[in-house]
Amino acid sequence: MQQTLVIFSGAGLSAESGIATFRDAGGLWEQHRVEDVASPEGWDRDKKLVLNFYEERFRKGLACAPNPAHRAIARLEEKYDVVNITQNIDTLLEQAGSTNVWHLHGRIDFQKCEFHFSIPPYDDPSYSCDYRARISAPTKLGDRCPKCGGQLRPDVVWFGEAVDMRQEYLETLVRRTDIFVGVGTSAQVYPAAGLLPLFNGTKEKYFIDPKPAYDLLHGFKVLEGRASNRMPELADRLLQSPPGNGSGM
Ligand code: APR
Ligand code: ZN
Repeated sequence: MQQTLVIFSGAGLSAESGIATFRDAGGLWEQHRVEDVASPEGWDRDKKLVLNFYEERFRKGLACAPNPAHRAIARLEEKYDVVNITQNIDTLLEQAGSTNVWHLHGRIDFQKCEFHFSIPPYDDPSYSCDYRARISAPTKLGDRCPKCGGQLRPDVVWFGEAVDMRQEYLETLVRRTDIFVGVGTSAQVYPAAGLLPLFNGTKEKYFIDPKPAYDLLHGFKVLEGRASNRMPELADRLLQSPPGNGSGM
């Protein structure tokens, strides 16, 4: 019976592919005001500014390739039932070969209607459209929803918007998880960061980050360092080790 391995990742996983993180020095939130480019209020104020921000990220994403950490995660599928839960909107995990990737905060290669039903954190009848589609070019001002005529926007979750935590699925996943790995996240943004305590009961837990948030990592084996070094090392150990014997790290 294949063991279940959950990998919870953040921007640090893709940093070495050339995608800036959010809160590190020179990170995205140093260059842009969150409330302008990643909030419903910013969208109401200036849609063009928001669309330009995500156009830049779309183009940047196209110019980036998976790094050794993404590839190591894909390799783990040789032996484990791997479930990726990522905060990242890039598709580098899929490009590296991962087949099970849950994007908590959306995907840069999808667009949706500005009145999409998944957006508000509470029931709002004015948000009832279900238009969502894959894109090969960034969304522009004036791109209209074919269903209701609303302006199209990136399929990304902004601050103050709902994150679908798939409660029932998550509860069963926590129960069947044998190994949990956190990589490249400051674990400051909720509800995503709530996954760390949620998997606290998992007997084998690892966390990879050059500046780990130790106060959140009790019971974790912390592997300080960059993802492109530490993730392949951990993957090699987990692929070598007999089931249930841990990596010995
Ligand atoms: N390898 C591993 N980790 C790294 C690397 C690297 N090469 N470089 C930086 N890191 C770590 C940093 O030390 C930090 O802990 O990655 C983390 C990045 O943290 P944030 O920038 O806060 O990104 P993240 O945790 O993914 O942010 C969560 O916040 O802005 C929102 O929606 C956005 O999904 C994002 C969420
Ligand atoms: Zn619509």
